[in-house]
Amino acid sequence: MTSQALREARIYEEVAEKSVSAEERPEFHLSARTGWMNDPNGFSCYGGKYHMFYQYHPYDSHWGPMHWGHAVSEDLLHWEYLPAALAPDETYDRNGCFSGSAVTLPDGRQMLMYTGVQQLRLANGGIRDIQTQCLAVGDGVDYEKYENNPVLDEKDLPEGCSSADFRDPKMWRKEDGTYCCVVGNRPADGSGQILLFTSKDGFSWEFKKVLIANNNRFGKMWECPDLFELDGRMVLLTSPQDMLPQGFEYHNGNGTLCLIGDYDEKTDTFTEEHDQSIDYGIDFYAPQTILTPDGRRVMIGWMQNWDTCNFRSRNVAWFGQMSLPRELFIKNGRLYQRPIKELENMRHNKVEYHDISVSGTVRLEGVKGRRIDMELTLRPEDPRNLYQKFAVRFAQNDQYQSSFSFRPRESVLKIDRKFSGSRRAIIHQRRSLVNSKDGELKMRIILDRFSVEAFINDGEQVMSAIIYTDQEADGISFFADGTVKMDVVKYDLC
Ligand code: FRU
Repeated sequence: MTSQALREARIYEEVAEKSVSAEERPEFHLSARTGWMNDPNGFSCYGGKYHMFYQYHPYDSHWGPMHWGHAVSEDLLHWEYLPAALAPDETYDRNGCFSGSAVTLPDGRQMLMYTGVQQLRLANGGIRDIQTQCLAVGDGVDYEKYENNPVLDEKDLPEGCSSADFRDPKMWRKEDGTYCCVVGNRPADGSGQILLFTSKDGFSWEFKKVLIANNNRFGKMWECPDLFELDGRMVLLTSPQDMLPQGFEYHNGNGTLCLIGDYDEKTDTFTEEHDQSIDYGIDFYAPQTILTPDGRRVMIGWMQNWDTCNFRSRNVAWFGQMSLPRELFIKNGRLYQRPIKELENMRHNKVEYHDISVSGTVRLEGVKGRRIDMELTLRPEDPRNLYQKFAVRFAQNDQYQSSFSFRPRESVLKIDRKFSGSRRAIIHQRRSLVNSKDGELKMRIILDRFSVEAFINDGEQVMSAIIYTDQEADGISFFADGTVKMDVVKYDLC
């Protein structure tokens, strides 16, 4: 039975969506149907389609009582909205249906697990969250909340674990038909940890162990965990709050963390070997992954960051978009990402230049646009006389521009959006240390109206950022202090 809260949300979103034209949205990044979007939820393949749910407040372009929005796609690039899937309409989730995940049950139904939030008023006037894990089962459009919700609560937590920070279950079904899930949590020291729970049938769950403890190393609370095998290694993705920068890693406050290690299936023991940021730009958080039917591990994140998300005015029709779907792989012990191969089907109007000399500012015929896929290959004209700086400027006109600039002597790549038209003093720049030998660098830059994502050195690093620059600013130019030799391959994406 659909609750009144869900019925109202569904009616509201259907009407509100009509006020947004296609040009006012990204072309191939999923954006909020109306109102506010944050984390990807329940990212899954079900009934022959990809499903993406998301943290959703349909009534406002700012965060509020969380619903689950819903969209489906055949290629992860063209999305069709479905009616909102969950609304906060039960006692145990009356203050929000927070992030979670999806699995397919053996009987063919889809099951969602999410965090129910209930706020209690304390005697001292304060408010305390009670976070529990809850289920809803459905057919890909309508979901019924499970009568025995919540399926995991305070009673399932070991001594000292917080029931106020206990959220974002990511579950999966194992080959033997049993289920596991990892959930973010906070132990008594206020740090973060990831708990592992298991279930025989998906409905009754028990605590297995603390899988990984943060021990106050990478920020505090770890949100939105995801655990999966990749190229023979085990990978944990999580989004820690309150991170401290370490060198060029972890500059985002609300950051992203990838741990790569070994996993002992018998004892469920994860041994960390490598850590890195998932994204080195400004706007990326809370990613979730799926295994596609053809065996690719694909990740989508919220292309936004809690530290910079309050800069759009209140009266915009939608706020929040997802990142490009990215195929993950491991190379030289690191997490690599590349845009999903389906993006190549959207490439049109190829423009190609080889061995262009860039010294000062250069513009190239046919190289412009705000929905583009552009590969740049840089090398110095003379390795013994290295250039000082290279920059590519985009979303550019007389008034606006954003840029990537590269200083080969420091091997630092910088994104800068301070002239992108933002009227707020939010973070506008981020620097990343990149691998470059003798001033060589490869970048693949994807623009989709309101965002930029750069895949550096075939995906060794990615930098993502939101830009709300007027769409008329569609110029691209190149600049070098010294001389750079450059190849450009550019496509329109449509
Ligand atoms: C991460 C997060 C999650 C939570 C959700 C609430 O961005 O804070 O931990 O489930 O957003 O909207």
